[in-house]
Amino acid sequence: MKFIAGNWKMNGSIAALRNMAAALRDIDTQNKVVLCVPYTMLGVETNGVSLGAQDVSAHDHGAYTGEVSANMLKDAGAEYVIVGHSERRQYHGETNDTVRAKAAAAIAAGLTPIICVGETMDEKQAGKTMAIIESGVRESIPGDTNGKIVIAYEPRWAIGAGLTPTSTEIAEAHTLIAKTLESMGLGGTPVLYGASVKGGNAAEIMSIPHVDGVLVGGASLKPDDFIPIITSVK
Ligand code: PGA
Repeated sequence: MKFIAGNWKMNGSIAALRNMAAALRDIDTQNKVVLCVPYTMLGVETNGVSLGAQDVSAHDHGAYTGEVSANMLKDAGAEYVIVGHSERRQYHGETNDTVRAKAAAAIAAGLTPIICVGETMDEKQAGKTMAIIESGVRESIPGDTNGKIVIAYEPRWAIGAGLTPTSTEIAEAHTLIAKTLESMGLGGTPVLYGASVKGGNAAEIMSIPHVDGVLVGGASLKPDDFIPIITSVK
């Protein structure tokens, strides 16, 4: 069983989500499918496909105009929430500390955070990939996970760029993450790969050791692109 999450980013509509849910109802798969959609779509009936949000406030409630709390996400129907996506880190200045606080808020509300880590092109070129990944994992995970986290390794330079690391690079990153999680007492935590996953590379990526699934951006928006990813593996 693999864990296949879509990240719609700021795309789609309620009608598009209903259409996706209808298309997913008929497929034959044992894989876990989650769609992380904009807040406005969280109440849509999806026939058993789990929904997630793409960000959450670290605060419980109060005077934080524009923010949405973890309890509100849960109330609206979310089971998951992406935290620390590279676009949040890049455009909203989120750090590992911010991400850890948001993940803790999600866990406290009974949501499963999908915690993203990964290196930028500058960090890659400076030979810092492994250090960034390890510190991302160590610093972005709250002390008490209640057994409810998912990690996503997303090389930031590859997201939305049509670029993917080599299988060896993915294997190295995922092996490091698995070892780091083990040393934190979190062995068995699912670790997804994300960045430019599509129907043509999904099966190969998910055959790499320690890759428990994928986080898919652009190719999760349309059933014709997303379903081949889901059905590419058992
Ligand atoms: P992409 O995005 O699949 O379009 O590269 C992945 C992500 O941002 O989660």
